[in-house]
Amino acid sequence: MKLFTALATSTLLAAPAFAQEMNGDAANGESEFARQCVSCHVIADESGEVIAGRNGRIGPNLHGVVGRAPGAVEDFRYSDAIVAYGELAPEEDLTGTAPTGEQFETVVWGPENTMAYLQDPTAFLREALDDRRARSKMAYKVRDEQVAADLYAYLATFSPDFEMGDEMAEGDAAMGDMDEMDHSMDDMTGETETETAN
Ligand code: HEC
Repeated sequence: MKLFTALATSTLLAAPAFAQEMNGDAANGESEFARQCVSCHVIADESGEVIAGRNGRIGPNLHGVVGRAPGAVEDFRYSDAIVAYGELAPEEDLTGTAPTGEQFETVVWGPENTMAYLQDPTAFLREALDDRRARSKMAYKVRDEQVAADLYAYLATFSPDFEMGDEMAEGDAAMGDMDEMDHSMDDMTGETETETAN
């Protein structure tokens, strides 16, 4: 428990620094996407028009993925782990990287969790879910943190309406979040089943 609390706290404290330091370059993200991602993913809009890629089907269509719950593309057969992650409330994400705020009922892909996922999908889901048997179907890791930030910036261009909560930027709100997190941690030491069922 101590470990998780420390982890969640340090991630939250690091968030404002992250926002300032890790500004992704969407143009570089676009070329990295073409190089690293198109073998498995396409970006195709609602009308089916392909914006990037060669119609890769091993992974889901990534159009609009930013701001959306993980594991939410219809008809794509996701791993159980990523679907479970997308069903968590934001403060149940044990990595503390999901966007928080009243507008988020479940985890959605925001800057920090997307970047962490891209750098090691399975390790990320294991930590987020506290389940060492969790396994992502995405067998690929982005090696470089800045490249992950650039890829995020590129993917975010297809979700122009997505806005992070303002909680990250404000100290008081962040403290409130930490309190909530402590409570959910306490709950989790009991029956995790009752938390997620119903
Ligand atoms: C070897 C194939 C492969 C490559 C290469 C790959 N992915 Fe994936 N990706 C997948 C699969 C499969 C999934 C579904 C994961 C699951 O079900 O656990 C996925 C899931 C994702 C998700 C979550 C989608 C959702 O709907 O929740 C994102 C975001 C993502 N990939 C981004 C990328 C980016 C960016 C790259 C390039 C750096 C990339 N992927 C490279 C196969 C791949």
